[in-house]
Amino acid sequence: MRKSCLPESAHYEAILLVGGQGTRLRPLTLFTPKPLLPTAGVPFLAHQLAKARSFGVRRIVFATSYRASMFADAFGDGSSLGLDIVYMTEETPLGTGGAIRNAAEALTCGPDAPVLVLNGDILSGHDIADQIRVHVERGASATLHLTEVDDPSRFGCVPTSPDGRVTAFLEKTPNPVTNRINAGCYVFQRSVIDSIPAGQVVSVERETFPGLIEAGELVLGYSDASYWLDVGTPAAFVRGSADLVLGKLESHALPGPVGEFLLLDGATVSPEAKVGGGTVVGAGVSVEAGASVQGSVLGDGAVVEPGATVVDSIVGTGARIATGAVLRDVVVGDGAVIGPGNELAAGARVWPGVTLRECSVRFSSDV
Ligand code: GTP
Repeated sequence: MRKSCLPESAHYEAILLVGGQGTRLRPLTLFTPKPLLPTAGVPFLAHQLAKARSFGVRRIVFATSYRASMFADAFGDGSSLGLDIVYMTEETPLGTGGAIRNAAEALTCGPDAPVLVLNGDILSGHDIADQIRVHVERGASATLHLTEVDDPSRFGCVPTSPDGRVTAFLEKTPNPVTNRINAGCYVFQRSVIDSIPAGQVVSVERETFPGLIEAGELVLGYSDASYWLDVGTPAAFVRGSADLVLGKLESHALPGPVGEFLLLDGATVSPEAKVGGGTVVGAGVSVEAGASVQGSVLGDGAVVEPGATVVDSIVGTGARIATGAVLRDVVVGDGAVIGPGNELAAGARVWPGVTLRECSVRFSSDV
């Protein structure tokens, strides 16, 4: 993580969008919102909060909706993180734009101040302070962080002119005109947020940005090539956790040294087991002799029995992977049991508490 290029005295307010249901990450998000899922040993948001603070953010308004009370339980008033955290909850979800407008009621800054807005499911190495600097220097209404991806069709595609002005905002189009996409971190003038209609469902991607562009407002793109990942799918989530453990993205919230794996309190790994690729071995986990675990997340209290193989997978709290079972790119819900000899692959999801009998499944999808 680069250090802020602004003086230490430059402090900002931010809005963090954390009200989504995280449907693509079910069953992990059935009881825990996506931004609170354990990621490299701490709740996902802990990484974002540490980063925001390092770039001068001091006050953060959480825009909550789904399982809202769990956020305050996790982070309280933010003082232990050197932050002032407040919570604004939507009774019914207002969409990204409506949520930003609702959360803005808790901002203390004036209409001309820049306000940072972050999606609560992004890992990014970009320089937030530099994004704010560009926004302020160019006098923009909004400045969007942009990143390049191989397949932009799943994201908001954002073409820009040579001077960085955003010329269109094409949300999830099958024929993207550029690989440059909306990276989910915005700087808004406070007055622009206040112009979003209050108490209504509004999409910042489908309504606010296209509306600003059509009105001739200066909407800038802030492009860079630093680490970036949207952790909205199981494959991306497990990748993000592993990258943090491996140190591909620096995080001050990582509760241990970077390395091939992160061992949390009371976890045991047999000397005859192979564990690596940025695996998180949760508190009280047991990885037994002859097991192989690569690039995965093992939830607290999980057990990987002798000879089992777990690759690029998420194993829920208290789940058990029995002898000889093979998991690749799989989500195993809390407390589930994968009986001996089962082979699961290609995005299979096992729901919490389910038990698979011995050798009952080979390469299935959802169970
Ligand atoms: P999926 O259901 O898997 O698409 O995930 P999601 O619900 O998180 O939706 P998406 O990834 O599109 O949301 C981007 C960010 O906006 C996430 O950080 C969400 O928590 C947040 N978000 C989406 N909709 C709302 C909303 O209605 N209210 C609030 N407060 N946040 C929202």
